[in-house]
Order: sequence, then C-alpha cells, then structure tokens
Amino acid sequence: MRSHFSSRLGFIMAAAGSAIGLGNIWKFPFEVGESGGAAFIIVYLFFCFVLCFPILVSEIAIGRRTQRNAYGAFKVLGFPRWAVIGLLQVVVSLFILSFYNVVAGWSFGYFIEMLIGNFAIGEQFPQYVQNIPRISVYSILFMVATGFIVAQGVSAGIEKYTKILMPVLIAIMLGLAGYALTLPGAGEGLSFYLVPDVSKINLDVIYNALGHAFFSLSLGLGGLMTYGSYLSKKDSILSSAVAVTVMDVLIAFMAGFMLFPFVFSQGLDAEGGPGLVFMALPAVFASLGTVWGTIIGSLFFLLLSFAALTSTVSILEVSVAYLKDEHQFSRFKAVILSATVIFLLGLPSMLGNGSSEFFTSFITYGGTTADFMTLISDLSSNTFLPLAGLLISLFVAYVWRPDQLIQELSSDGHYTIPNWVAIYLKIALRYVCPLILSLIFLFTVLEKFFGIQIIG
Ligand code: PHE
Repeated sequence: MRSHFSSRLGFIMAAAGSAIGLGNIWKFPFEVGESGGAAFIIVYLFFCFVLCFPILVSEIAIGRRTQRNAYGAFKVLGFPRWAVIGLLQVVVSLFILSFYNVVAGWSFGYFIEMLIGNFAIGEQFPQYVQNIPRISVYSILFMVATGFIVAQGVSAGIEKYTKILMPVLIAIMLGLAGYALTLPGAGEGLSFYLVPDVSKINLDVIYNALGHAFFSLSLGLGGLMTYGSYLSKKDSILSSAVAVTVMDVLIAFMAGFMLFPFVFSQGLDAEGGPGLVFMALPAVFASLGTVWGTIIGSLFFLLLSFAALTSTVSILEVSVAYLKDEHQFSRFKAVILSATVIFLLGLPSMLGNGSSEFFTSFITYGGTTADFMTLISDLSSNTFLPLAGLLISLFVAYVWRPDQLIQELSSDGHYTIPNWVAIYLKIALRYVCPLILSLIFLFTVLEKFFGIQIIG
C-alpha cells in the first residue's frame, strides 16, 4: 500500500515547504538585485501565474492519477517513451540537491556562528566558504537531517516535520520584516525593490526570471509529482495548488521586504550576488548589540535552514521514490544511496568557491567565467527545469489530453472545475507554455552559444 498524507493541510504544508526555501530567501533577493530590482519581479510574477501554474497543477495531477514516482508515472499512464521526462527529472534532482545542500550547510553553519556571537562572519564569508573541512561537516549534517526525515516516510516524516517547521518559519519572517522596515535605510531599499525600471528588462532578465519561477515553485523536477502521488483522491488539487503558489510568491516578496532595507541601511551593494544574504546580514545583526543580535541573527539563520530543510526533503524524495517504486529498494537503503551520491556530486560545487582554482573558474560561456556551482545552478534550474516544464505541457496537451487532466482535478467528478479554469489551463498548456518556453530556449541558445542577440 502506498502511504499518503493524512490531510490536505499536510499536503499543502509539505508542498509549500518544498516551494519555499533558499530560492525565496537567499536566491530571490540576489536575483532581484542583479536583475535591476522591481523589473525582474514583474516578469517573475507573470511566469509564475501564467506559465508555471498550469504545469504545477499538471505535475500534481499526474502523480495522483498514477500513484507513482516521477519516472514510473509516465509508464503507468501508458506512455513509456515519455518516461524520459521522468528520468530527466530524477537526474536533475540529484544535481540540484548537490549544490543546494552546500548552501543549506552554509546557512546552518551561520546559525552556529550567530549563536556564538561571531558577527564578523559576514566579512569573512569568502574565507568561510573555502574552509572545506568545516563546510563538509555542515553539509553532511544537513544531509543527515534530510535523510532522517525522508527515511521516516510520508506522514510520520515529511508531513509531521513540515507542519511544525512552516508556521515557525513564517512567524520568524514576519517579525524580521517588521523590524527591517523600521531601519534608517528602509525607504531607499524599498524604492529599489518596488519601483520598476522597465528599461532593465532584457533576455538575461527574462531567462533568469523564468528559471527562478520554476526553481522557486519546485517545478520540473518531479518533486510535486511525487508529492502528488501521496495526495488523497478526496482532496482538491486546484485549491491546494493555488495555496502553494500564493504562499511561495508571498514569502519571496516578504524576503525582499526584509532584506533590502537591511542591505541599504548598511550601505551595501544590492548586486552582491550569491553572497548577499551571507555578507549583508551579520553586520545588521551586530548593530543590534550582542544580546539582540545573537537572538535575531541566530533565529534568522535557523529560519533559513528550516526553509531549506523542507525543500531538501522534497528533492531527496524524488530519487528515493524512484528507487523504491522502480527498483524495489527499501526506503532506508534508497535514502543512503541517494544521499551519498548527492553529497559526492556536491564536492566540486563546494570546492568552486575559491579553494580550487579549477572548479572556481570552471567554464566560460555567454561572455562570463562561471564557477562550478553557478554552472550547475544555471544549467539545472534555468535550463533543465523549464525544459522539463515544456515537455510536461506538451505531454499533457497532446498525449495525455487536457480532458484527462480536468477529470483528475475534479477528483473524478467530486469537484466542479469552473469552465474558465478549464479553458485557461487548456490554452496555457496547448499554446502559451510550449510557445513561450521554446522561444526563450531558442533565443537563449542563440545568444549564449552563438552570440546572436535577439532581445535587449
Ligand atoms: N523551491 C525550492 C526553493 O525555492 C527549491 C526546489 C527546487 C525544491 C526544485 C524542489 C524542487 O528553495
């Protein structure tokens, strides 16, 4: 018997926990910073609601209909060739978790630094990420925590822990955002964040916003398909999907409200890149004095670690469910094997932050030199997640058929799906998603690999 979430709330918390993670709190602010503030947000929101939502609903529905992992699902539906999408998803999940776990490890390490009152860690960030023995320990600890939860299964593990962690996370975040708004630089930070400069929108911004929408909603990697396979037939997919999307977008938005006032009040550069959160915040916490700085600083990095944990759990579950369903592994063995492979895959990402010259200036493409982590993140989130999304939309629109999707969304007639929703989903999956996703691909390949510039 396949295990299931015990309630719809359990599913929503687990799926929202998957969506809300480093993507919202660490990546979103620096993407906004690098891509010209509010202009990026507009493109991102458009992608979330118009392009990604129909794919999100499709992923959950395919999982629930088939009660299988991301690969087996396509076989159960009777289209074994399309199972390559599933294979792609399983492989990409390993790569994404490999670097995600490293950043999650940084965050957990920062929690400890804040606890002991080491506020200078912000300036020491470049050295901190090069301390491989220490970072390895944090990453291993993080992977063990993830494995521990996944090994306990769906309702006793994933559901139980995310139901506790998510409300705590939201509470800490509201508190911090409220405090940030009272700081002296808040106004400047907010205007950078909220006043759009449309002239900044170019292909790079569009490409990053698309990748980020997929990454942030946990799409194209089979996580939601796998969670969908644990969702009870009685529960409404549509309303759960709306809740997950809205929560994800709101939390990212709130992260900006919290971070940009902090960044500007410290006179830091908003285009700080991946180190933004790690370099900007410790000084802010220091300015609160030792006692409050320690409390708020450690709470913040604890929050970031919790957010990451509910996401790493969902990414690990993709390969675990695959090994369990398709290769008859026990849950425990599947966890050990996947976690080990992922940790090893993560080593070059860890080394590419300055400690190994080879992995630090690993490759030059699109005119810039990238380290290993940037390459993997760029390839997997910005390229392969949208590619999987494109294939899923084609699959649902032309192979499985939208009527089947609507049937599953209605829980076989238990819920009525409003006509306009059905039409919107059909049009999006048939025309809008395939068209926009393939155009962005084409343009990106032309620009990055052939130097031909079409937009911007
Ligand atoms: N959505 C997660 C985040 O924003 C990351 C993630 C990506 C999780 C893909 C699952 C699948 O941090």
